[in-house]
Amino acid sequence: MIATLDGAIQYKGDTGAIGYPGDHALMAGLRSLADVVVMGAGTVREYDAWPDDAPPLAVVSRSLDLDFDGGVFEGGRTIVVTCGSAPADRLERARERADVLLAGETFADIGPALDELAARGLGRMLCEGGPRLLAQVAAAGWLHELCLTLSPMVIAGDAFRVLNGPDLDEPLRLRLLHAVPDGDYLFTRYAVE
Ligand SMILES: NC(=O)c1ccc[n+]([C@@H]2O[C@H](COP(=O)([O-])OP(=O)(O)OC[C@H]3O[C@@H](n4cnc5c(N)ncnc54)[C@H](OP(=O)(O)O)[C@@H]3O)[C@@H](O)[C@H]2O)c1
Repeated sequence: MIATLDGAIQYKGDTGAIGYPGDHALMAGLRSLADVVVMGAGTVREYDAWPDDAPPLAVVSRSLDLDFDGGVFEGGRTIVVTCGSAPADRLERARERADVLLAGETFADIGPALDELAARGLGRMLCEGGPRLLAQVAAAGWLHELCLTLSPMVIAGDAFRVLNGPDLDEPLRLRLLHAVPDGDYLFTRYAVE
């Protein structure tokens, strides 16, 4: 994730406005270490394609309001993580275009879906957000490391923070593994204790 110094994950709805090429290079490096990239549908809807040299993408969605004809689903590598209560017609379309993982009927907890990905040999997961999904990953006890780039700007406003969800039962304490400056940007990597 990338955030401004005042904690915003985007400026006026635009995540690119706080990013820069160095962070994109870091993201590509992180992807190269992962078995699968897990992403919420809200973020996936902003993608036109998924790179061939990246690990497969697992899209988490209950509505299945996704562009199954778009580039993200080309090549048949994409995994759709959804639940039994998803609309039947969209579920059928998802099955034509992707590998569908059904995580229970209503999908109240993301944990079992992530357990299932791990059981398929995709245990090294890179969750690229967005903030609503990431809050659920943390609530389910699946946040083990946080790679956070600090973008050298403040923007005020009411943008989401890195995690957007109800209070966790207890604050998660993290340990700084490293902090690497790149000009005025700072790449940090924390591990959950
Ligand atoms: N600054 C950064 O580093 C960064 C990183 C990533 C994303 N972003 C930005 O964040 C924005 C999107 O963030 P967001 O938090 O709104 O969306 P998100 O977390 O990407 O996606 C939320 C969607 O994921 C699905 N979902 C999440 N939890 C689920 C569950 N337990 N069961 C079933 N489906 C579930 C739902 O999809 P359905 O509605 O389809 O059911 C939900 O609407 C984008 O603008 C993106 O650019 C910024």
